[in-house]
Amino acid sequence: GMQTRLIAGGPADDAGTTGSAPGLHVLYGSQTGNAEAIAEDAATAARAHGFAPVVCALDDIDIDRFASLGHVLIVTSTYGEGEMPDNAELFWDALSAESAPRLEGMHFAVLGLGDTGYDGFCQAGKLFDTRLEQLGARRIVPRVDCDVDFEDAAAAWIGETMPLVAAVEGIVGTGSSAAAAPTAPARPKSQWTRKNPYPATLTTNRVLSGAGSAKEIRHYEFALGESGIEYEAGDALNVVPINDGALVRALLDRLHLDGSVVPSGFDTSLTHLLTYDYEITAPSVDLLEEVEKRTRNEELTYVLRHGDKAALDEWLWGRDILDVLMLEPAPELTAEEFLSLLRPLQHRAYSISSSPNACDGSVHLTVASVRYGDDDRERRGVCSTYLADRVGDGTVGIFVTRNKAFRVPSDDTVPMIMVGPGTGIAPFRGFLQERRARGAAGKNWLFFGDQRRDCDYIYEDELAEFTASGLLTRLDLAFSRDQAEKIYVQTRMTERGAELFAWLEEGGHFYICGDASRMAKDVDAALHAIVAEHGGMTEEQAAEYITGLKREKRYVRDVY
Ligand code: 2AM
Repeated sequence: GMQTRLIAGGPADDAGTTGSAPGLHVLYGSQTGNAEAIAEDAATAARAHGFAPVVCALDDIDIDRFASLGHVLIVTSTYGEGEMPDNAELFWDALSAESAPRLEGMHFAVLGLGDTGYDGFCQAGKLFDTRLEQLGARRIVPRVDCDVDFEDAAAAWIGETMPLVAAVEGIVGTGSSAAAAPTAPARPKSQWTRKNPYPATLTTNRVLSGAGSAKEIRHYEFALGESGIEYEAGDALNVVPINDGALVRALLDRLHLDGSVVPSGFDTSLTHLLTYDYEITAPSVDLLEEVEKRTRNEELTYVLRHGDKAALDEWLWGRDILDVLMLEPAPELTAEEFLSLLRPLQHRAYSISSSPNACDGSVHLTVASVRYGDDDRERRGVCSTYLADRVGDGTVGIFVTRNKAFRVPSDDTVPMIMVGPGTGIAPFRGFLQERRARGAAGKNWLFFGDQRRDCDYIYEDELAEFTASGLLTRLDLAFSRDQAEKIYVQTRMTERGAELFAWLEEGGHFYICGDASRMAKDVDAALHAIVAEHGGMTEEQAAEYITGLKREKRYVRDVY
């Protein structure tokens, strides 16, 4: 399992460099498993080139050991707005410190994964790339930054990098183009991928939240049928959405474009392209710029030319592409121009809310439907409302991404503490099912909350049953709007601080799922305060204690 894979500096560290084959470290920073999967592909290609590669998370290698390496490939995603993935954070702290060792003997290459829809695109990859060079390491190939459709670019980077790193090592002749070219991974890969999703039947679509709730949270079940899809509690299910036909028509109307026409350079109609192939809700900066250029709409000119990033974000808040096109004067765009300003339609990843060992042949999701807007038009989240409203009797394209970092403890006897307000409860429903299926004796504690108990207490019956049966040792609820003052999950944690610290001392694993920008940060702060108070520690000692939890993979997050 994860824990035994590679301990920095430990005996396993050199496991890959036995024999005469030269070593190559493929280090990843991965939040959802994509970078890790690419690192494994790179290792497969490296093996074909005569290397004995070692694959591990950046945080699993200590900085001094790192400094002794000759060949290093780094594959890292960036999460949120330019942040390091959780399993690269400690390593980055060490590498970016003034005390970081020089790296003159090292050859490296960096592959960044990111999303151009966010600020700080591929920021983590850029930081590593720059810092390694600064410390004297030599870059083998220029960094490549991948957008969300990373597969081809990542494969090309692997194909390009391997011969060059082999050349540096003086390996000539092995891994010739034949072996190197399409770097077919040896590990069994699910045949269902982004490009070839499994058409699953949606067997259940049920609203969980009650009347009067500010939210619409739904429970979905998909039949896995003969797909052969495997997953574990903690993995993500990717859904390939189909756009809202009414929105496609409204866009065509506004641009006076004929949807039945096949745009030049394409082989299908404009309507089909807008329905299946492009993002038609969130406007790209390119689109804003182009519309501004053509219309000189004052408002748009102002936010683009005179405002700062915050002003632009504020203007964009709640506005979609149709809103931008509705500005006056009406922008005129050809079908080809319009398409060139759109991003490819992406799948959406959701935390799975079931365990395969409890829900044979099916996979469950817990998703909040995104709907907002004013009186004239409801704006709808692409994928959440596809699932909620538009699947009907059709099938849904799905595939699984493994997230090996987010798992129930491999030791069935240790305690598990889970903090998951709102839809953050999803993976923990799966974790609890999994622990029951395993007959795991370890204690389980869930912190859950949302706005109001009467309408937002989702899975209430199941949680009651988990509690009654003893599976759930403790259940603490935080309904923020049922009283004058806000009560959040971290309020409950703090109230129960002594016991929470005791659970950690017993070897407990601490999990957070849900909102990254505020909740996860505040929960983290509360955890620090609890450890300091009940562990009798200074702030620094508490921080060190929590860093220790992270190193031991006993503090993991699935946040977005
Ligand atoms: P609020 O909307 O009443 O402020 C799920 O969205 C729950 O998380 C809601 O009860 C919400 O409360 C709460 N929440 C909002 N901000 C939070 C924060 N910073 N930390 C923890 N919970 C938060």
